[in-house]
Amino acid sequence: MEKKKIDWSSIGFGYVQTDYRYVANYKNGAWDEGGLTTDANITMNECACVLQYAQTVFEGMKAYTTADGRTVCFRPDLNAERMMDSCRRMRMPVFPKERFLDAIRQTVKANEAWVPPYGSGASLYLRPYMFGSDPIIGVKPANEFQFRVFGTPVGPYFKGGIKPLTIRVSDLDRAAPRGTGHIKAGLNYAMSLYNIVDAHEQGYDENLYVDSATRTHIEETGGANIVFVTGEGKLVVPKSDTILPSITRRSLIQVARDYLGLEVEERVVGIDELGNFAEAGLCGTAAVISPVGKIVDHGEEYTYAGMGSVIGKLYHTLTGIQMGTTPAPEGWIMVID
Ligand code: PLP
Ligand code: COI
Repeated sequence: MEKKKIDWSSIGFGYVQTDYRYVANYKNGAWDEGGLTTDANITMNECACVLQYAQTVFEGMKAYTTADGRTVCFRPDLNAERMMDSCRRMRMPVFPKERFLDAIRQTVKANEAWVPPYGSGASLYLRPYMFGSDPIIGVKPANEFQFRVFGTPVGPYFKGGIKPLTIRVSDLDRAAPRGTGHIKAGLNYAMSLYNIVDAHEQGYDENLYVDSATRTHIEETGGANIVFVTGEGKLVVPKSDTILPSITRRSLIQVARDYLGLEVEERVVGIDELGNFAEAGLCGTAAVISPVGKIVDHGEEYTYAGMGSVIGKLYHTLTGIQMGTTPAPEGWIMVID
């Protein structure tokens, strides 16, 4: 497979139109057979439910080229399941897991020339998503839906690559108790747009959200979960019902315990504990593990080791599993062939 002629190592996290995308339509209570198209544009009615009431959910995952030249995806079954959870909460029809995996396979296979080569530091970011497409004016769910998957080659999510991030404790909230913070609904990201622009204008890379009920617990950032490491090398993972159940975070917990022999504590983490940690990292498909150098809480500054020894080991082990240089736990890797 001849790859596209791109300077892979210099690409950032932006949209690049690739050749094929997958589309399936839901109408009269059933999904059609779906398939690939070269048309990257969508035409819909002015009153489509997604445009008026934001009925849309999405997923984020990646395809990688391994050291031995295979094209693989990391734990796509968990993305399929999480999307089903998101759909149920948003009163959308689920896209069956086997069909989701098939759509991923088809999209990656058709765009294999866009999967960055091993060692480039880049990957093919995959965006499965679904939206309500028929005209809805009274507040209620759509009757017709579209499921799509496209791919776009990406490098590091944060500008500056692996440079430790500076984040601030946010004054605005992202997710309400009993709301939608635990699913991947577009509306959660719409909520955060004002605040991410403001953070950048103030010189921060991201916002760190606290729980909106008590404003005493650490939740996550706009696009990634957060993990901490104590001075003794214990991984501390904030627990909350209003954050996204990150697949990267769940994988890191297993990597920490089973590969690195680390102690892991999943618990509510108080905002007053920020000074107790030696290392911090943002974890997610896009973020991988991005080291945090500083968290600013209203004038109080807490500094961390950046790519410290534990965050560093987690990063190398996780990316080793994804790129096929470290043996993966059973079922974590789906080979595209
Ligand atoms: N939290 C938020 C708000 C996200 O958007 C993401 C990205 O998907 C994550 C966490 C990380 O989740 P995952 O590791 O499954 O990509
Ligand atoms: C991902 O990591 O896949 C996400 O969806 C995060 C988004 C901010 C790019």
